[in-house]
Amino acid sequence: MPIRPLPDTLINQIAAGEVVERPASVVKELVENALDAGATRVDIDLEEGGIRLIRIRDDGGGIPPEELPLAVSRHATSKIASLDDLEAVATLGFRGEALPSIASVSRFMLASRPRDAEHGAALHVDGGRVGEIVPKAHAPGTTVEVRDLFYNVPARRKFLRAERTELGHIEEWLRSLALARPDVELRVSHNGKPSRRYRAGDLDAAARLGETLGEDFARSALRIDHSGAGLRLHGWIAQPHYSRASADQQYLYVNGRAVRDRSVAHAVKLAYQDVLYHGRQPAYVLFLELDPTRVDVNVHPAKHEVRFRDARLIHDFVFRTLQEALAHTRAGVETGVAPATGAQPSGVGPSYPASYPAPGTEGNGGARPFVPWTPAPQPLGLRVDEAVGALAAL
Ligand SMILES: Nc1ncnc2c1ncn2[C@@H]1O[C@H](COP(=O)(O)OP(=O)(O)OP(=O)(O)O)[C@@H](O)[C@H]1O
Ligand SMILES: [Mg+2]
Repeated sequence: MPIRPLPDTLINQIAAGEVVERPASVVKELVENALDAGATRVDIDLEEGGIRLIRIRDDGGGIPPEELPLAVSRHATSKIASLDDLEAVATLGFRGEALPSIASVSRFMLASRPRDAEHGAALHVDGGRVGEIVPKAHAPGTTVEVRDLFYNVPARRKFLRAERTELGHIEEWLRSLALARPDVELRVSHNGKPSRRYRAGDLDAAARLGETLGEDFARSALRIDHSGAGLRLHGWIAQPHYSRASADQQYLYVNGRAVRDRSVAHAVKLAYQDVLYHGRQPAYVLFLELDPTRVDVNVHPAKHEVRFRDARLIHDFVFRTLQEALAHTRAGVETGVAPATGAQPSGVGPSYPASYPAPGTEGNGGARPFVPWTPAPQPLGLRVDEAVGALAAL
């Protein structure tokens, strides 16, 4: 076969292969666009786990009618314009390819009205074929509708799972988002019924923590906030008594972006290694903030990973911050500030530092070694520096 340039739709479908894995990836890209547009409320309507319909409506800045075709064109973005911008990205999106990718593998509609415009407009794209701009009544903000995901790519459609499973992936992603953005209201409906609502406004980040990950986590969470070397690490870490069988409550955000990072995960694990039973996983919600030029976000098409320019420094910073915070919980236990309850598992005991009573050493039997417990003065909101002060005063 001679070398030929690929048609645009096929180029977008190839990109979709990387960016759009399942309905949850579509929800992620669309909600990120809404957040980048300054939305304070995002409505997410789903049908059949998002496979049949994903509709995301926001009250953000909107798109002028004449720019709608650009929004669904590859490599067109309002978020960066130069390499300097790319090296200091402050928005969640920057690649200019999410909408064209999604629109190439679905029946797609984009409707929008800028805040200062009198009228809205809409554009339909069907499996990558772009229609005409048509006037459409719309409140200020943007709506994106994605129907029949992968209807034209049977090989991908085959990989979609049951409605419940796909919905579960969407909900997990929304949990992660809700933790990072307590200032934004998120409303979800599934098959026509309201299914989840994260309110904004009167709720602060701590309240959303309980709402999102459960009161047990919130009660056992230590708030941390530590800065140094141009880095800031804040958020919550669960005290060792609240541990998990799997790594299902480990949330890391770098400059507000949810990412997976082996080096940070390792630093956390190391900090917990003396205080958790072997095989147990810590729970945490950590926000790392640093100058955007010190982290490369252009590493992964779906932006699940980043690359730190000084990874070693960050590893040590995270390790030390957490180790310090956990050391104070040990001191707290010792001085009776946070008595342990629960039960010691019979026989297999991991080794704990002498200063740290293993969970449940004064317990009631042996049945439930890891009952989350309620410490006496609520540690939620107690910062490490405050904890140090409180202990020093004893
Ligand atoms: N909800 C929205 N509100 C306002 N503008 C939007 C919205 N969604 C998309 N846009 C506009 O359309 C452009 C293209 O969106 P798209 O998601 O394809 O690319 P991006 O967000 O710039 O980069 P990425 O591919 O990394 O997501 C955006 O740069 C933005 O200007
Ligand atoms: Mg985007």
